[in-house]
Amino acid sequence: MELIVDRLSKRYGSKTALDSVSFEVGEGIHGLLGPNGAGKTTLMRLLTTLLSPSSGTASIGGHPLSDKKRIRESVGYLPQEFAFYPGMTVFEAMDYLALLSGLDNRAERKRKIGELLEQVNLAQHHKTKVKALSGGMKRRLGVAQAMVHEPKVLIVDEPTAGLDPEERIRFRKLLGRFAEGRIVLLSTHVVEDVESTCEQVTILKQGTLKFHGKVGELTKAAEGQVWSVELDKAQWERERERFVVLSAVADGPSMRVRFLAPDQPFPQAISVTPSIEDAYLYLMGKEGQLI
Ligand SMILES: Nc1ncnc2c1ncn2[C@@H]1O[C@H](COP(=O)(O)OP(=O)(O)OP(=O)(O)O)[C@@H](O)[C@H]1O
Ligand SMILES: [Mg+2]
Repeated sequence: MELIVDRLSKRYGSKTALDSVSFEVGEGIHGLLGPNGAGKTTLMRLLTTLLSPSSGTASIGGHPLSDKKRIRESVGYLPQEFAFYPGMTVFEAMDYLALLSGLDNRAERKRKIGELLEQVNLAQHHKTKVKALSGGMKRRLGVAQAMVHEPKVLIVDEPTAGLDPEERIRFRKLLGRFAEGRIVLLSTHVVEDVESTCEQVTILKQGTLKFHGKVGELTKAAEGQVWSVELDKAQWERERERFVVLSAVADGPSMRVRFLAPDQPFPQAISVTPSIEDAYLYLMGKEGQLI
């Protein structure tokens, strides 16, 4: 199973939301990382056929996006803004969605829903009203509904936003389990989500692809660009505008600062190994644009 995105573009009027983006992914969890307005949701909506491309194409398991029926069979989708049926119980909501997706046999639906609720750890809440679930539980229910028709590709748009750290970790583990034998595409603007869950990452900024590859290779992009220095506070105040600052910690009268610069900016600055977060900020800050 492969997902191939080939020069995919989407314009809304004169606004180019996605600009000739190409990449390929196989099974496993893949991160789609980028700041607000990068085009993550647009790309995901194109891949679920909810939007049509302005140009370019993509294919899933050899089927082009134009084959909407096959694509919809292959893809499960958890939208960024998703509204469930608040007055229904967890089971009723799942039952309704399973029916809509064509599972006509009642006993079969019940079995399938039970299995899915077990997998997302909501079995004990099957009689709870959707409106009474916590944010994390709603998100897990969202994954269960996306998996009802047993798709080979699971697309989840910013599922960890607003979750507390414990739920975030639980959610990542859940996606890890669903990624066996499947493609999971996870969008986020949190570098840590990618670092802890994804083997590969695609980085978008203002509709263009900035990076696609192994997460480990991302740091190579920023090698030689990250510096650490200890300066007195007055000197730092004079210099700070010139750099993209990654962190600045006061230590008595001096500051320990980590920042981006193409060449050694002060004799006492030490070149440091970039973290994934550094590399991401480097890619975002490139082209003279501070974040
Ligand atoms: N229906 C629309 N009409 C016009 N412009 C749109 C529409 N939908 C999105 N855009 C614009 O396209 C660009 C990409 O938006 P998109 O929602 O895909 O970004 P995103 O990466 O998902 O952002 P976020 O992190 O905020 O969810 C943005 O500049 C947005 O304003
Ligand atoms: Mg979005």
